[in-house]
Amino acid sequence: MTSSFRINNYDDYRKAWQKSVADPEGFWESVADTFTWRKKWDKVLEWDFRKPDVKWFINGKLNITENCLDRHLSANGDTTAIIWESNDPAEPSQHISYALLHQQVCCFAQALRGMGVKKGDRVCIYMGMIPQLPVALLACARIGAIHSVIFGGFSARSIADRVQDAQAGYVITCDGAFRGAKDIALKSLVDEALVTCPSVKKVIVCKRTHTPVSMIGGRDVWWDDLLSEINKDEAVKVPAEEMDAEDPLFILYTSGSTGKPKGVVHTCGGYMVYTTYSFVNVFQYNPGDIFFCTADIGWITGHTYIVYGTLCAGASVLMFEGIPTWPDAGRMWDIVDKHKVNVLYTAPTAIRSLMAYGTAPLQGKDLSSLKVLGTVGEPINEEAWHWYDEHIGMGRCPITDTWWQTETGGIMIANIAGITPSQPGYATLPLPGVQPVIVDEKGTVQEGNEVSGNLCIRFPWPSIIRTTYGDHERCRSAYFAAYDNMYFTGDGCYRDEKGFYRITGRVDDVLNVSGHRIGTAEVENAINSHTGVLESAVVGYPHDIKGQGIYAYVIVDAHTDTSDENCKNINATVAGIIGPIARPDVIQFVKGLPKTRSGKIMRRILRKIAEGETKNLGDTTTLLDPLVVDDIISGRQLP
Ligand code: WT7
Repeated sequence: MTSSFRINNYDDYRKAWQKSVADPEGFWESVADTFTWRKKWDKVLEWDFRKPDVKWFINGKLNITENCLDRHLSANGDTTAIIWESNDPAEPSQHISYALLHQQVCCFAQALRGMGVKKGDRVCIYMGMIPQLPVALLACARIGAIHSVIFGGFSARSIADRVQDAQAGYVITCDGAFRGAKDIALKSLVDEALVTCPSVKKVIVCKRTHTPVSMIGGRDVWWDDLLSEINKDEAVKVPAEEMDAEDPLFILYTSGSTGKPKGVVHTCGGYMVYTTYSFVNVFQYNPGDIFFCTADIGWITGHTYIVYGTLCAGASVLMFEGIPTWPDAGRMWDIVDKHKVNVLYTAPTAIRSLMAYGTAPLQGKDLSSLKVLGTVGEPINEEAWHWYDEHIGMGRCPITDTWWQTETGGIMIANIAGITPSQPGYATLPLPGVQPVIVDEKGTVQEGNEVSGNLCIRFPWPSIIRTTYGDHERCRSAYFAAYDNMYFTGDGCYRDEKGFYRITGRVDDVLNVSGHRIGTAEVENAINSHTGVLESAVVGYPHDIKGQGIYAYVIVDAHTDTSDENCKNINATVAGIIGPIARPDVIQFVKGLPKTRSGKIMRRILRKIAEGETKNLGDTTTLLDPLVVDDIISGRQLP
């Protein structure tokens, strides 16, 4: 089924990329033809980046879950779809076949229907990494409801913001979630959030931690009680909802440089085609391989390469409830050994945190099943790349460095494992269908090699963001307004002498902390809401494990103390408003911030000071008060 678009050698790659540029419609039509459609499209593509308006597979009808599940049943119903590994190594793992997953999804879809959930309704999902989580996503997709997964590390306030923005009628959650030594009381956070969310009619609660919860009569129902009413044999016969290729599949909120997180919208047809295509090719997945993606389903990586792209390809995917360092730093290697994992896809931050424990946790672990390694989420430093290569891949596994974003839906620039060359620190070459361009500040395209600038994409690919939920203008201004007729990624980039791309990090005010995307404006707003805080400025600085750490410069009023105790309190405020992932690593109390005469904070200077640079701060003559800089330098806090 997927063999017709598989890239098997460098020549295949070259030809596929060339065809995808010369004849994008023909190229993607032949990939789309390999999927199950209720009705094929009338036209492959219509687009106008200036609006933006992008439509793929126009008037095509499908249900993505028939591609993830039903179409595998006759030949591969017994194949394992999902292997689940608990947070607790002593708890047995689960193997869920395609046939069983299909049945579970059909039953839960019926339960949702019975509750009144209809096509187009928004359902927020706030759960831990248990098998019911992919079931919940797929059941929504089965009935055409739009899911919005909220990462389990977000606070009650963040849940409320997302529920309100999507005007969700339903929430699916758990009593709690296990995460290393902790258990997080998810349901009580949902209760707190929903006080300000009148749109929510029903809350479904799945039992995991047995943490006591309060169930609100008429609103809250237990997952198991709902399912006990469903007849399995009947449920599997109910047809999936017919969706248009351009109907929304899901919303996923992500941080930008300004304001509240944006609800990135992906649609059914294009997302399905691109995610499956990229999965099979980048990882060179072969039937029977065990693919272990360590991401959380709360992020785009989990949506695309645990749930949709992976299952559409009929793969066996391993999902893990815990964290790499608990109960000890050998946990991931134990899992690879136990399940004979063939492809491991993880983040540079995880590699760096495990590297710090040395090779002792690897002793006695058989990693010989590994064939391909992948990284995602941030630039990988050479030291981590080599450690991954030598100690995990034993020098015999290609490493694919995959650059992409929530907005791109799937991997955009990456070496194809073992087929196109790799180079530490480089995502290397674009996938077929992807036309990267490097532009300077003014929007002039930088032709040729050995150039750097801002990374844009000049032609639509099938899983490109369609809109930001409820605010199309925000989508336009954030991604399509900076440069005419191009999608702007927000990343800086260098193209070397061979034409390989190296992503150098964000050029906007977005931080990447342990692979989590955090807007500096969001953190500043949270800090500013703390009693006694007058103003703040947040920047990133290089952090050995997290990639970037969060450095906050804070001005308080005369009645507020600048003690360590108050730093902790500010941290707690940020954790309460956004979530623990956004807590500053360093807080420095300052008397003033470096501002231009027009009142703009000069973050460049603050970034340099946070990095430890005190001399070459560049031009400070345009500052309203250059003396504040000396004051900030003398009070610099060591991370
Ligand atoms: C940002 C997107 C894509 C899934 C996870 C993150 C950075 C991502 C790489 C990479 C260098 C990378 C970029 C991008 N990024 N992958 N291989 N090399 N940087 O998704 O939360 O939407 O974040 O992560 O800065 O813009 P996201």
